[in-house]
Amino acid sequence: MPVQWSPEHCGGAWVISGYDEVAGALRDPRFSVRRAARWINSGLGDHADSLPQRRFKRIFSRSLLFLDGRAHRRLRGILNPGFKPAALEHQRPAIEALARQLIADILAEDDARQGFDFVTRFARPLPALVIATLLGLPGRVPEAFIGWAADLAGFIGSPTPDATQTVAAQDALAALCDYFEKVLRQPQDLPPHCLLADIVQARQQQALTQVEVLAQCSTLLFAGYETTRNLLGNGLLALLRHPAQWAALKSQPQALRGAVREMLRYDSPVQYTGRRLLADITLDDQPLRRGDLAILHIGQANHDARRFSDPARFDIARDQGMHLSFGQGAHVCLGAALTQMEAEIAFTALMQAMPTLTLSAEAPSWQPAGAYRALERLPLVFQE
Ligand code: HEM
Repeated sequence: MPVQWSPEHCGGAWVISGYDEVAGALRDPRFSVRRAARWINSGLGDHADSLPQRRFKRIFSRSLLFLDGRAHRRLRGILNPGFKPAALEHQRPAIEALARQLIADILAEDDARQGFDFVTRFARPLPALVIATLLGLPGRVPEAFIGWAADLAGFIGSPTPDATQTVAAQDALAALCDYFEKVLRQPQDLPPHCLLADIVQARQQQALTQVEVLAQCSTLLFAGYETTRNLLGNGLLALLRHPAQWAALKSQPQALRGAVREMLRYDSPVQYTGRRLLADITLDDQPLRRGDLAILHIGQANHDARRFSDPARFDIARDQGMHLSFGQGAHVCLGAALTQMEAEIAFTALMQAMPTLTLSAEAPSWQPAGAYRALERLPLVFQE
């Protein structure tokens, strides 16, 4: 059923899982992204009105991810230049160096040949370091950066965050905002071509409030971290579970672009996103009412047999058009081109430096299911 009511999801929601229906909803302005407030409070019960929670909500609800229409377009316009092809090409050498360094660190350890966890050693740190570079922070990223990103992702990824997840995310956001405020007090130390420099300039021109500045900086961290980490982990797992395709890719690196697209379709890093209905509508003969919550199930839409033949088959040569993993419409992922470039750099570096990579006897483990499809551990082995 491409559209059905589910009492289990988020206390009751429409789950939309057909490809055309999800794509249509993503582009339809009657499906509003303004859903942050109720969901942020959901895990806290009586503490929902505490001071830290109010600050958390104030910042979160100013993120471009949770704003519609003009307010959204204004913020997106400010962040956009940093994601243009020329700006990304400028970052390419730095991203290549980061990927090579992480691999060199693994290779330098004698024990690593017996087994190492790809998630801890590569898939987690690379995206966080890349976002830090893009923002303009290389060389001064606090140790806790990855932990903050993970705590925010733990909250964002949960359909009904509990009190522990909410408080961890509150603390992470508070620490992150303190950190960004400190960095932004010294704009002269920022490199000229970086996202923070664009944001500082917009702030100086009064195009952004301080809360909006902090909300967009934090959004970039959690939107770009957990997602890319999952693409690298899930994508490599799919390749290693299909050794013939892993071998084919090593002999035809030009196939990498399509292979990354198939990794994104096959095991979508973001499984679903949410919307709130602004009007009564009928979809697939179902009556959706104003105020209802809709879960747009990207992961299932990417496996819709009406759109992709034999959808459960992983096929790096598949040429059947675009997956929905980056969303569509006004909120389509701002980091899509960066992600494609980062993944191509990462897999190229891995294939060159560790061509004998295989799965270890120890099985991979997954995080609890939620909006993110995330490996906890991916144990691997390799030979000289
Ligand atoms: C595998 C990697 C990624 C995936 C699967 C992914 C997925 C998505 C999806 C599905 C959305 C739309 C959400 C919605 O409509 O509710 C989105 C939005 C967004 N993504 Fe990504 N993303 C990835 C990487 C990144 C990176 C690396 C960055 C930046 C550093 C980034 C920044 C953003 C931002 C800022 C938005 C909000 C855009 C808006 O609301 O206008 N993403 N992403």
